[in-house]
Amino acid sequence: MSLRSLPVYVVLLHHPIVNRKGAIVTTAVTNMDIHDISRSARTYGAQGYFLVTPILDQHELVGRILAHWRTEESRKQHPDRVEAVSLVRLVSTFEDVKAAIRAKHGQDPEVVLTDARPLPKSISYADYRRELEERRHSGGNPKPVVLVFGTGWGVSDTFYPEVHRILAPVYGPEGNGGYNHLSVRSAVAIILDRLFGL
Ligand SMILES: C[S@@+](CC[C@H](N)C(=O)[O-])C[C@H]1O[C@@H](n2cnc3c(N)ncnc32)[C@H](O)[C@@H]1O
Repeated sequence: MSLRSLPVYVVLLHHPIVNRKGAIVTTAVTNMDIHDISRSARTYGAQGYFLVTPILDQHELVGRILAHWRTEESRKQHPDRVEAVSLVRLVSTFEDVKAAIRAKHGQDPEVVLTDARPLPKSISYADYRRELEERRHSGGNPKPVVLVFGTGWGVSDTFYPEVHRILAPVYGPEGNGGYNHLSVRSAVAIILDRLFGL
């Protein structure tokens, strides 16, 4: 199923995030996350990739990186990268994400959380993919979907009131209980492929 017929967005939260001690923190944006995740988002046809950080210094820094990828020279030298990075939207809060999607699609998104830990009432990739296919076939104005990914030690449970659906963790051959702490960049690529890959 192509994402093109479904408005899907990738969201990377830098707040509210937990650190190794379980405290709520704001993490720093990384250059790798900007580039690698935007390439995955573009490959699987997502309509946007929101970076969410309330820190103004980070906006300045990321703004400078994004400005570099909007220059004519970058367009000439690295057109593929420019095309991917053009999906990035830098915002301060998750409320900004919802407002942008509401403005574009006229409705709030379905918010889908990802996590390496098993959380209650999670849905398998096969089942959620089937659901999205059914929605696509039923036509009309499909509800936008935002896939939310964390940084640091993962998304704080203070974010859970925003969440409508939770995807099951990705596991390797060790299965539930085995090592499955993926980088967020790998997690995004695997999850987009499971939901939308050919
Ligand atoms: C906790 S952050 C770790 C960030 C880390 N500092 C890095 O290098 O990417 C990783 C995020 O990727 C996703 N993730 C990682 N492993 C996962 C898994 N096994 N199943 C589902 N999502 C996973 C979740 O969104 C999680 O919040």
